[in-house]
Amino acid sequence: MPVLVVVGAGGHAKVVIATARAAGWDVAAVHDDDPARWGTALLGIPVTGPCADALGDPAQTCVLAIGHNATRRRLGTAASCRFATVVHPAAVVHESVTLGPGTVVFAGAIVQPDTRIGAHGIVNTGASVDHDCTLGEAVHIAPGARLAGGVRVGDEVFIGIGASVTPNRSIGARTIVGAGAVVVSALPADIVAVGVPAREQIRRAGI
Ligand SMILES: CC(C)(COP(=O)(O)OP(=O)(O)OC[C@H]1O[C@@H](n2cnc3c(N)ncnc32)[C@H](O)[C@@H]1OP(=O)(O)O)[C@@H](O)C(=O)NCCC(=O)NCCS
Repeated sequence: MPVLVVVGAGGHAKVVIATARAAGWDVAAVHDDDPARWGTALLGIPVTGPCADALGDPAQTCVLAIGHNATRRRLGTAASCRFATVVHPAAVVHESVTLGPGTVVFAGAIVQPDTRIGAHGIVNTGASVDHDCTLGEAVHIAPGARLAGGVRVGDEVFIGIGASVTPNRSIGARTIVGAGAVVVSALPADIVAVGVPAREQIRRAGI
C-alpha cells in the first residue's frame, strides 16, 4: 500500500484522509502548523508536527488538505516533496482527463472527457466538471457545484457549494463564486460574484 502524508489537520483533512484511504493509500501521518494539534489524532492518524517537516522532505508523498486556495498553492509551489493525485473510487474521472499533482477528487464527483485540472485542485463531494474544461492551479469546486462543458477557470478560483457555470464561460483568477450562484457570463479576476444570474457583489478583502 503506498504511504501518504496529509498536510493540514482541519475539517477538510478528515475528508481527504477518508478519500485517500478509500483510494488505497496508507495514510501514515498528518502535519499541521498549529502546535496545539501535535500529539492529537485525526480519524486515528497522529498529528506529528509542522507542515514543513513533510513538505521539505523529498522522500515523502504528500497531499495538501488545506481549503484556502492561495495557501495551498503557496505551500505546494515551495515544497520539495512529491504530491499524490487522489481519486475516490466512487468518483468518475474519464481516462482522457488530466489531473495535476496534489489534486483530490472526492466521492460522487464526475469529471468528463478532455478536461484538464491543474495542481492542488479540489473537486469536492458530488461536484461535476463537464467535457473540455480547463482549471488552473489550486482551484476549489465545492460540493455539488456544476461546471458545464468548455468552462475556463483561472488559478485559485473558488466555486461555492451548489453553484453552476453555463457552457464556455471563463472565470478569472482568484474570483469567488458564491454558494448557489449561476454564472451565465464571463467573470473577471479578483471579484466575489453571487446570485442568479451571478453578479459582482463585493470587492475582495483578503477572503
Ligand atoms: C459569497 C460568500 C463568499 C460571501 O461571504 P461573506 O463575504 O462572508 O458574505 P456575508 O455572509 O457577509 O454576506 C454579505 C452579503 O452577501 C449576501 N450573500 C452571501 N453569500 C451569498 C450567496 N451565496 N448568494 C447570495 N447572496 C449572498 C448576504 O446575504 C449578505 O447580504 P446583505 O448585505 O444584503 O445582508 C459566501 O457567502 C459564500 O457563498 N461562500 C460559499 C461557501 C461554500 O460554498 N463553502 C463550501 C466549503 S466546502
